Amino acid sequence: MLRVVFLGAPGSGKGSQAKFVEENHGLAHISTGELLREAIDAGTQLGRKISEVVQKGSLVSDEIVLELIQDFLDSHDCSHGFLLDGFPRSTAQAEGLEDLLAARNSPLNFVLNLQVDQEAVVRRLSGRRTCSICGRIYNIYFEPPQSEGVCNSCQKESLVQREDDNEKSIRHRLKVFNEQTAPLLSYYENLGVLHTVDASGTVSEIAERIEAIIQSELN
Ligand code: AP5
Ligand code: MG
Repeated sequence: MLRVVFLGAPGSGKGSQAKFVEENHGLAHISTGELLREAIDAGTQLGRKISEVVQKGSLVSDEIVLELIQDFLDSHDCSHGFLLDGFPRSTAQAEGLEDLLAARNSPLNFVLNLQVDQEAVVRRLSGRRTCSICGRIYNIYFEPPQSEGVCNSCQKESLVQREDDNEKSIRHRLKVFNEQTAPLLSYYENLGVLHTVDASGTVSEIAERIEAIIQSELN
C-alpha cells in the first residue's frame, strides 16, 4: 500500500502527476489547496476566513490544514493508500502528520520531491486552466484543451483560471515555498524517505520517472 507525499514548488506538477498516480494505483488524492479552494467557493465560514490568504499565496495556519487532513482521513476510504499533494508545507505540519499517522499505525512510505527550475514555473502557472467540474488541469501553452475553454472530458465550457495564478501571487508563493516548505527536504532526507525526481520535460516523461520510483518502492 502506498502512502506518499508530493513535495514541490508551485507549478512543479504535483496536481498533474497526482492524477496519474491516483488513477494507476487507486489512491485517495488529497490536495489541501483543492480542499481550501472548495471551502472558498462554497462560502463556508472557513472559506471566508482563508480566502485572502490563499489569493495572496501565503500559507493558511497549520491548525486549519491539519484539521482538514484529519477530517479527510477519518471520512474517506484510504484502504488502497493515499497521496498527499501540497501537504505538509511546514515543519510543524510534517510533525503533526507524523503524529496523525502514528496514531493510525500507517507511516509514510516515501516523499517525492518534484524538482523544477523556478523561472520555468511562472510560465506554467500563468498558462494553467482547470476544469471547474472535474478538476482536470490544462495549460494554454503546454497542454491545451482540444477546444479553447472547453474541458476534453466534460465537454463543457468549464475551464477557469485560479485567482492566485497572477504573477504577483506566483512570485510570493515561490518565496513562501523557499522559506517555509523547502526545509522539509532535509527533514525527510534525514528520515531516509526522500526521493527526488527531475520535474522538467514533458508531463508523460515525468510520469514515467515517477512510476519507476513507485515500482522500486513497491518491489
Ligand atoms: P496549491 O493548490 O497546493 O498550489 P501550489 O503549491 O502553489 O501548487 P500548484 O497547484 O500551483 O502547482 P502544482 O505543482 O500542482 O502544478 P500543476 O500540476 O497544477 O495551494 C494553493 C494555496 O493554498 C497556497 O498558496 C496556500 O495559500 C494554500 N495551501 C495549500 N496547502 C496548504 C498547506 N498545506 N498549508 C498552508 N496553506 C496551504 O501544474 C501547473 C501548470 O503547469 C498546469 O497548467 C500544468 O498543465 C502545467 N504543467 C505541469 N507539468 C508540466 C510539464 N511537465 N511541462 C509543461 N507544463 C506542465
Ligand atoms: Mg496543485
